[in-house]
Amino acid sequence: MSPHKTTESSKDAAAEYFEKNPSPKALNSHQALAREFIQYHAETSPDRRIVLVTSGGTTVPLENQTVRFIDNFSAGTRGATSAEYFLKQGYAVIFLHRQFSLLPYSRHYSHSTNCFLDFMDEHQDDEGGVVVRKEYQEKMRRVLEEYHYAKQNRLLLLLPFVTVTDYLFELRALATLMHPIGSRAMFYLAAAVSDFFIPRERMDEHKIQSRDNGADGETGGQGSGASRQLVINLDPVPKFLNTLVQSWAPKGSMIVSFKLETNPDLLVAKAEQALERYHHDVVIGNLLTTRKWEVVFITRDGGEHWVRVPKTRRSKSFSGIEKMIGLAERKHEQHPIDLEGGTVTEG
Ligand code: PMT
Repeated sequence: MSPHKTTESSKDAAAEYFEKNPSPKALNSHQALAREFIQYHAETSPDRRIVLVTSGGTTVPLENQTVRFIDNFSAGTRGATSAEYFLKQGYAVIFLHRQFSLLPYSRHYSHSTNCFLDFMDEHQDDEGGVVVRKEYQEKMRRVLEEYHYAKQNRLLLLLPFVTVTDYLFELRALATLMHPIGSRAMFYLAAAVSDFFIPRERMDEHKIQSRDNGADGETGGQGSGASRQLVINLDPVPKFLNTLVQSWAPKGSMIVSFKLETNPDLLVAKAEQALERYHHDVVIGNLLTTRKWEVVFITRDGGEHWVRVPKTRRSKSFSGIEKMIGLAERKHEQHPIDLEGGTVTEG
């Protein structure tokens, strides 16, 4: 199939997807917030670059009134950590994330084996006072300063999604809103996006029953074994990367996508294939088991560039690798990307 035909057919598939699936309830309010955010930065600091970081996994509901859903693996660590680096580099960040996944700054104190209360102590001298424990104070002060800076300067906009349909509507809307800033826009697509879904017309309205409805309304079915299996028939979600590159994103913007694989023999080939197919700027490949300390950058000039956190520094791996990924930022102004230096030297 020619590239032209591929583009046309994926545009058709995308258009059909949006026609057949309902937009998220929050879309209008998110659009208003993002429009205001982009306008504010365009007017107050015309040179400021804005990155849309996507983060966390999308869900695929099995029922319209959703009790059960299929999830995509992602805690949001990559996205939240990278967002902090982009902010440090002076970007304004729109953080499109899975609801309740990790967020920039608060990620240091949430979802960890430590409960946030473990960072605190009751003040000994002061009646009723609460303090941060001594050993955590230095780091917390640093994180707090960065958080306050981002907040006071309106540099971070947090927009949540849940389902793959929410995500795609939001992505299309945000990309379109970024048009006025042209090449100062960057897309950094770290979210783990579902490849399969249940089309609206085939989705159950109510909770799928585990047995046929019987006298008690819940458990009448006499079936056993195979007769009570739940067989789910999923359709492919159209690949939206193509439509993002070809029509939603502003011309000249930089688009970085991620490729997640579990089989090391496939990673580079699949990342190269993605770049060839979608004609964007960079694919960052990672394997599920080594994603915290090893990524590969595939760039348009045919470059294959591995970034690795040395074994001795792996306890700090996430900070290290995201700092290197942040190098994508340095190249934003000079397409095509050309990366130098492959090993993380600071954590
Ligand atoms: O959050 P963490 O726990 O830190 O994990 C980080 C991560 C492993 C999730 C992250 O580094 C990562 O690899 N994210 C991309 C995961 C993913 O969706 O990979 P994929 O191989 O399924 O898709 C490749 C690309 O196709 C992605 O850019 C995706 O946006 C795009 N895609 C996917 C599905 C779809 N229907 N349309 C798409 O365009």
